[in-house]
Amino acid sequence: MRHLLPMLLVFAAACDTLQPLRGDFGVLANPTTDTARVELGRALFHEKALSVNQSLSCASCHPLETYGQDGKARSVGVTGTPLRRNTPSVLNAAGQVAQFWDGRKPDVESQALGPVLNAEEMGMPDEAAIVTALEAAGYRARFASVFPREQVPLSGRTVALALAAFERTLATRAPIDDFLEGRADALTPRQRQGFDRFTAIGCTNCHSGPLAGGGRFERLGDEVPWPDESDLGRFEVTGVAADRHVFKIPSLRNVAKTAPYFHDGSQATLADAVRKMGWHQLRLELSDDDVALLVDFLDTFTGPLPQTAGSGQ
Ligand code: HEC
Ligand code: HEC
Repeated sequence: MRHLLPMLLVFAAACDTLQPLRGDFGVLANPTTDTARVELGRALFHEKALSVNQSLSCASCHPLETYGQDGKARSVGVTGTPLRRNTPSVLNAAGQVAQFWDGRKPDVESQALGPVLNAEEMGMPDEAAIVTALEAAGYRARFASVFPREQVPLSGRTVALALAAFERTLATRAPIDDFLEGRADALTPRQRQGFDRFTAIGCTNCHSGPLAGGGRFERLGDEVPWPDESDLGRFEVTGVAADRHVFKIPSLRNVAKTAPYFHDGSQATLADAVRKMGWHQLRLELSDDDVALLVDFLDTFTGPLPQTAGSGQ
C-alpha cells in the first residue's frame, strides 16, 4: 500500500500533462521495421483500385501533403454525397486509444478495411472483390514476398496489416517535443506564454499525453451544450446514455494545418475552434488576446512529415 499512493499520483499527473512524442507507433504484431510491408502499405494507401469505380484512394480524402486530411468540412466518397463526419488526419492516428470520432474501432489494423468496404466511401462489395481488384492491378507477387509465412498472402487481412503498418510510421515530431524535453528555446517567448495559458486554463484536462489528445473520450459541450447535437457520437457504439454527444478527444498535432475543425467540420479557423473550446468545454469567454496566444502556441505542434510519407508509389 505504501508504494501505491506515490505511483497513483505520478499516473494522475501524467494524465493531464503534455508529453513528448518519441518514435513511431510500431507494434510487435505489426512492426514498422518491416520496410517492405510499410512500402506496400504506402502503395496501397495511394491505390485507386481499392475503390469500386477506381476513382478514390485513401490519399484522396487523407492527402499526406496537406497533413493527412483534405481540408473539406465533409469529404465526398464514391457516391458523390458528402460523408457524415469531418475527415480526421491519418498522421499520428495510429497512436490513439481508438479510431474514428466515436472510437468504434480499437486500432488502425481493424480500421483499415472500413472505408474500402463502406458503400459511401470506397464502395467495394466484399473482401473477395478487394483481392480480385489487387490481383488485377498486379499485386500478387508483391504480397507473396512481403507475407511469405501467410497461407494466403493476398487477403483482406494482409491488406489491412500493410495499410496499418504504413500508418504506424506516420508520427510527426514538432518543436513542442524539444520544448517538453527541456529545450526552452525551442519555443518563442510568446509560444511559451501560450503553453502556460493552455495549461493554466485547463485545455490539458483533455488534450494531454504525447498526442495532446487521442487518449480518451469526452462530451462535446461538457459545460455549455454544442449548437448542433444531431450526432450522438460514442452513444452509437456503447448505447450508454452518458455517452450521448461524447467524442474522442482529438490529437492536436498539426492542428494549425487541419482546418476545418470538429467532427461536424463546423469551424473554419483555428481561432474559432479555440474560442468554441473555451466556451463549450470550460465555460470561459476567452479574450481575443488569449485566443491569439493559444493559436500561436498550437502551431508548435506542426511538424515535418516522416520520410515514409513521400508521395506516390
Ligand atoms: C471518401 C473519403 C475517405 C476515404 C476514401 C478514406 N477515408 Fe479515412 N476517414 C474518412 C472519414 C470521414 C473519417 C471519420 C469517420 C468517423 O469518424 O466516423 C475517416 C477516418 C479515418 C481514420 C481514423 C482517424 C482518427 O483519428 O480516428 C483512419 C485511420 C483512416 N480514416 C484511414 C483511412 C484509410 C487507411 C483509408 C483507405 C483504405 C481511408 N481512410 C479512406 C474519410 C475517408
Ligand atoms: C472537457 C474536455 C476538453 C477540454 C477541456 C478541451 N477540449 Fe478541445 N476537444 C475536446 C473534444 C471532445 C474535441 C472533439 C469534439 C468533436 O469534434 O466532436 C475537441 C476538439 C478540439 C479542437 C478541434 C480539433 C480538430 O481536429 O477538429 C481544438 C483545436 C481543441 N479541441 C482545442 C482546445 C483548446 C485550445 C482547449 C482549451 C481552451 C480545449 N480544446 C479544451 C475536448 C476538450
